[in-house]
Amino acid sequence: MEGKVALVTGGATGIGKAICIQLCHNRCKVAVCDMNEEVGRQTVKELNSQGGEAIFIKVDVTKSEEVQNMVKSVIDKFGRIDYAVNNAGVGGSLSKTENYSESLFDNIMDINLKGVFLCLKYQLKQMVAQGGKGCSIVNTSSISGLSAYRMNSPYSASKFGVVGLTKSTAIEYARMGIRVNCVCPTFTQTAMLPDDKKLQENLIERVPLHRLGTPDDVANAVMFLLSEQSSFITGVALPLCGGLSA
Ligand code: NAI
Repeated sequence: MEGKVALVTGGATGIGKAICIQLCHNRCKVAVCDMNEEVGRQTVKELNSQGGEAIFIKVDVTKSEEVQNMVKSVIDKFGRIDYAVNNAGVGGSLSKTENYSESLFDNIMDINLKGVFLCLKYQLKQMVAQGGKGCSIVNTSSISGLSAYRMNSPYSASKFGVVGLTKSTAIEYARMGIRVNCVCPTFTQTAMLPDDKKLQENLIERVPLHRLGTPDDVANAVMFLLSEQSSFITGVALPLCGGLSA
């Protein structure tokens, strides 16, 4: 992976930050793209103080123009995009469908689904322009994008949508040598996980490997899917769930 150029949305914190750290360890040039400028710049400082080559790009993935500018900024700085990780997302709220507000539904769809679509649109355009071969994209879906869970149907719908975008774009771009996959993590220890000990214990009980996921569990799988080690894998939605979906 040495010398490859990687773009990570939602790279400031949580799973995205763990991915940026591992990309830097693998000697990639990394664009940390996030709407949280303060935390994103701090992450870039940490990465570069540990020998990384990272830049921060402020982006709201729901805004077409900002996503186009994000891709342009990576090209201006590093000249190409080899890897993209479309990971920015929000969790929604725990509520029955009849009580879910329409505005929250729209917000979740905008960020989790349209955001991934816009990123794919402009990243793929760039990857095709540079010849395609060897480019790899990983989207972050969720275990809720593969099976049903109660009380957060819009989130689940957005993540099923990410699986659909992943599979369709994978077969569209395979002949150009561009691979597209997604990861489907279960409950992972980030700010998105509700800070409720009892709830977390209940979640752990349901997982056969008997623990929550860590950001590094997800980052390890993303490194594999980006790298040439997975060169015959495209269109996959990989569960990262300690056996929960078995
Ligand atoms: P997080 O809250 O730590 O990170 C999300 C990042 O996305 C933040 O840095 C935030 O600023 C950024 N972001 C949010 N909206 C944005 C927008 N419109 N434009 C640009 N950046 C935006 O949460 P976490 O857990 O690291 O989430 C990363 C991804 O993993 C999300 O897509 C989430 O749905 C998914 N996921 C998380 C799970 C968990 O249990 N933590 C489980 C399954 C999937």
